[in-house]
Amino acid sequence: MDGNGRWAQARGLPRAEGHRAGGKTVRRVLGYCRDADIRYLTLYAFSVENWKRPKDEVAALMHLLVDYLAHEEPMLHEHRVRLRIMGRREDLPPEVDAALTRVERATAAYERQLILCLSYGGRTEIAHAARELARLAAKGELDPESIDEDAIARHLYLPDVPDPDLIIRTSGELRLSNFLLWQASYAELYVTPTLWPDFGEADFKAALDAFARRDRRYGGISATPSPQS
Ligand code: IPE
Ligand code: MG
Repeated sequence: MDGNGRWAQARGLPRAEGHRAGGKTVRRVLGYCRDADIRYLTLYAFSVENWKRPKDEVAALMHLLVDYLAHEEPMLHEHRVRLRIMGRREDLPPEVDAALTRVERATAAYERQLILCLSYGGRTEIAHAARELARLAAKGELDPESIDEDAIARHLYLPDVPDPDLIIRTSGELRLSNFLLWQASYAELYVTPTLWPDFGEADFKAALDAFARRDRRYGGISATPSPQS
């Protein structure tokens, strides 16, 4: 979800206003996902690197998050969406953590998932998995020789969540910025110049259409070869 700051700047507004507008986009996108029967939506809301931002912007983002949860909880129930958090939640202010825990518990029974990455970093997550495995090995509960890709995947933050099929980045930046580094290996990437607050149904449809045209070979060869090949 990139481009909130630029969206605000272009209007002569404080950056926090861009984040507020971005919150409205989240609400819209949840609706598009429901209509398209998408079971997992993961939003990169705040990275481990975002703590470097000015204190007032971080505070505004945290405040917005609590506000958002208070306002949107009924919508999560209405759409039967389970909220989950992924990241270093120990970094979050206690009131943010408490608000998140409350909504996570209240929505725990729903099948569709909205996953919020908060204080999240892909490298941090992989280091977390390595630490967990090392701990087990040190206790003699794990043979280091048995550590394979599945073992690492089982110790990521949310091991039951499937790898993403499609990653959409707004605002035109051509990088992953430490998002789901492990899980993204075979994700299809889609970048749109649209800034996150402006991201609408046409952008969402365009991303899904582009995804539908991709030939996902996973390092193999095409399952349906074209006549020329
Ligand atoms: C993305 O918008 C939202 C967060 C990182 C929280 P930005 O704040 O990165 O917006 P730009 O990149 O400055 O336009
Ligand atoms: Mg940005």
